[in-house]
Amino acid sequence: MHRHSLYLAFSLAATTLIAPALRGQASVTSPDGRNQVTVQVRDGRVYYGLTHDGRALILPSLLGFAFRGAAPLRDSLRITDTARDTHDETWTQPWGEVARVRDHHNELAVGLAETAAPNRRFTVRVRVFNDGVGFRYELPEQPGLGAFEITDELTEFALADNARAWWLPSNWPRKDRSEELFSSGPVSTLDSVQTPLTMELRDGHTVMVIHEADLEDYARMFLAGPRMEGRTLRVALAPMADGIKVRGHTPFVTPWRTIQVADRVTDLAPSVLGLNLNPPNVLPRTDWIKPMKFVGVWWGMHIGTMTWSSGPRHGATTANAKRYIDFAAANGFGGVLVEGWNTGWDGDWIANRDAFSFTQPYPDYDLPEVARYAQSKGIRLIVHNETSGGIQNYERQMDSAFALYHSLGLDAIKTGYVTDLTSEGHSHYSQFMVQHYRRVIAAAAKDGIALDVHEPMHDTGERRTYPNMMSREGARGQEYNAWSGDGGNPPEHETILFFTRMLDGPMDFTPGIFDILRTKTGPARRIDEPRVRTTLAKQLALYVVLYSPLQMAADLPENYEHQPAFQFIRDVAVDWDTTRVLDGRIGDYVVVARRVRGGATWFVGAITDEQARTLDVPLSFLTPGRNYVAEIYADGPNANWLDNPLPVTISRRLVTRATRLRVMLAPGGGQAIRIRPAP
Ligand code: NOJ
Repeated sequence: MHRHSLYLAFSLAATTLIAPALRGQASVTSPDGRNQVTVQVRDGRVYYGLTHDGRALILPSLLGFAFRGAAPLRDSLRITDTARDTHDETWTQPWGEVARVRDHHNELAVGLAETAAPNRRFTVRVRVFNDGVGFRYELPEQPGLGAFEITDELTEFALADNARAWWLPSNWPRKDRSEELFSSGPVSTLDSVQTPLTMELRDGHTVMVIHEADLEDYARMFLAGPRMEGRTLRVALAPMADGIKVRGHTPFVTPWRTIQVADRVTDLAPSVLGLNLNPPNVLPRTDWIKPMKFVGVWWGMHIGTMTWSSGPRHGATTANAKRYIDFAAANGFGGVLVEGWNTGWDGDWIANRDAFSFTQPYPDYDLPEVARYAQSKGIRLIVHNETSGGIQNYERQMDSAFALYHSLGLDAIKTGYVTDLTSEGHSHYSQFMVQHYRRVIAAAAKDGIALDVHEPMHDTGERRTYPNMMSREGARGQEYNAWSGDGGNPPEHETILFFTRMLDGPMDFTPGIFDILRTKTGPARRIDEPRVRTTLAKQLALYVVLYSPLQMAADLPENYEHQPAFQFIRDVAVDWDTTRVLDGRIGDYVVVARRVRGGATWFVGAITDEQARTLDVPLSFLTPGRNYVAEIYADGPNANWLDNPLPVTISRRLVTRATRLRVMLAPGGGQAIRIRPAP
């Protein structure tokens, strides 16, 4: 049946007085009544659909699985039973973009069974919130379904509107990296894309985001596009080396498939739908998991003034690490990252992935001494573990390495996985890797270690269950401005990131490059030579706009010396009570205000693409009857990202909640504001 007539049949059935169960369908509505999901069996197949204010967003879309060695779980189905529940609870995050999160949803569980042998059974569980929906499959233990191998998940998203999507390509298994530039276009033109997939409907304001939550023992989800055949996106799972997507055994549950819905793009963030669909914290104590700003022996390697490997430019020497620790301590930072400290970097460190030691330092790096020195200065030393995808090599050493770090009082590591495929040939995003990342999170938690993961699995809300999973990369970060063959991230990049990648969780973007024109290493002359494509003021604003509980000041310490604008990085907070998106358009600009966790100070960050803009920003979020001092770091006269990125004008003024700020952004520019209560 054609999808639209199927949808019509759906609506007619819903409006007649025939008992819904007899028609083989059941619906569930969000607490505010605006989002409704209907699960229906027609001609033996099960479909779900989503409406918002009575308007179809997702037309009836197929559910089911294909297996190796067994018939698909898709046909001859009937609804056996339904169960309902409702939930309203507000929980507190140990750290986050917001302190308190409300989980208010209505739930419908639809039991389904094959009417023919082997009479397999499963449940589709749906939770409908005011900000979107989640649904997942549950496969109970049963005689007809024990061990299984999923070759395809048949879930579809039949979009009612040819919405405009902002997307990252995904041509797995090889090219499945998240470090790509975004494209945008109508859903009907998509090929194979990553999630979160943000879409703006043609009504000009409604937005939807498809993603997944609680990815625990499954393959990462991609979406295979319609290739001009309509508007139905299908789930595509990252494969293991033998092509199988998921191996499992009943009882089994899949991750949640999520669809966030908002009336305006500015209502998308902070996004908590995925967090609400993850199990609560399992760690007995979370008080040791502390957000912080850090500096690191890092940017020098990316611009080529230092090396990870041994030799005359080796970055990770005891003396250099101590220099960074002194700088961090003098400027109020929480941590220092040191990369290239462990043996294995000499030669081709990507190919030689099994040569990495995670306990053996290079002779010119005295790990216990650096750890002791850091501690004496109140600085946390962040240990670096690059695996290059050598998973077995890492897992072999993981327990002893984490125990060593723990014994030295080290409680944070940055991991890395620079390769498309693991040594065993599994996709970077396969079930094998999902299991690996989860093992690392649990092992780190056991030894009191927090994580910042580069080349990670995409974020599906693990931080709720394991708050030591603090930050990750998972998109093109600042490093592309150091060496990328296409010149680096274009000025619009971060204005898209905010409404796409950042909806799944924190990102270790590594802002704060002040030597924008690369004067220390020879300036970029041609347009395709790598350099930072923002103004300096925009680098400051990124600390507020791009949320991370671990926020780096990425430049070389010497580039911050005698720079008045550095004061903003010293002052800016990394943990928030409240977050408000004040204004924005995907790919154009965004203005974000955040209030410090447990404090009265606000920070505002505004960034634009290559267009200059003047924005009217009302400060109506401030407390009534209170006076504040706004410290404003604005693009200076004639600033622009291309040839005059450095001028920053720093000013101070008294403001109240009645103030409207005129925020002027240069081309590729930004503005960063600290608003503290007046003394
Ligand atoms: C890529 C990471 O994103 C970067 O931060 C790191 O320095 C290198 N890999 C080396 O591990």
